[in-house]
Amino acid sequence: TPSPRPAPAPANASATQRLPGAIIIGVRKGGTRALLEMLSLHPDVEVAKAEVHFFNLDDNYRRGLGWYRAQMPLSRPGQLTVEKTPGYFTAPLAPGRVRAMDPGARLLLIVRDPAERLVSDYTQVLHNRRQRGKPYPPLEELLLRQGRVNTAYKALQRSLYHQHLGRWLARFPRAQVHVVDGEALIRDPFPELRRVERFLELPPRIAPDNFYFNATKGFYCLLSAGHDKCLDESKGRPHAPLSAQALRTLCLFLREPNRRFFSMVGRTFAWC
Ligand code: A3P
Repeated sequence: TPSPRPAPAPANASATQRLPGAIIIGVRKGGTRALLEMLSLHPDVEVAKAEVHFFNLDDNYRRGLGWYRAQMPLSRPGQLTVEKTPGYFTAPLAPGRVRAMDPGARLLLIVRDPAERLVSDYTQVLHNRRQRGKPYPPLEELLLRQGRVNTAYKALQRSLYHQHLGRWLARFPRAQVHVVDGEALIRDPFPELRRVERFLELPPRIAPDNFYFNATKGFYCLLSAGHDKCLDESKGRPHAPLSAQALRTLCLFLREPNRRFFSMVGRTFAWC
């Protein structure tokens, strides 16, 4: 069962660093930054701004929970600390390590059409390589081998959601994992955030007027206490091209993995 949430303390109560009660575990390129920023609008939530990479990287994990806590923001008693590291979702040891910290931890998983996710993932790696002046093969070269999907391609593996979720559900009850629909969050953030508040047992504080559609950005941006904030240009950038033929091959390949994921989470998504 999820850990009970204590009532928030008065605003003058002592602020200190606390271990997270909820973690955004993935998926990479699913909208994890948007979800974290939007959740941080809630007065009872404090978020770690940078990705912490504690449960997925052995060098960090060896530093222990004291180090992990020291990466967290200040919070008052009763406030919920949240961190996001999309690398957790696919890291084989992460579920057991999170459980060892807190078997009552609440897990947020934001998903997106896994074919779209793969292209977004490739686009990010391509961009990073280019910035360092390094070459990178075209997407189709990595994705396909003799006309078939190359299952050794990392970005493809990260899109096989059922494989990764299976490891989490071996360690956590289904009720402790909340799935956020990344495409729905893009179309209209408010209803998805309301569901997240309910899952986290937070009073409903995030409101529709915390969001406005920015036509220049092409996405919703955040409004809070008179401040206006859009995600940076690395979020929502144009995707690298993929031929219709290659996309068909990919979508066909993903049918069975997607079906398995749907049956694990008990709902379906309109993916390719
Ligand atoms: P694209 O860049 O492929 O469009 P992550 O933060 O996990 O890396 O996810 C990045 C994705 O968040 C972006 O992928 C974008 O589609 C999505 N996203 C969701 N809501 C957004 C928002 N309000 N502003 C910008 N990007 C958003």
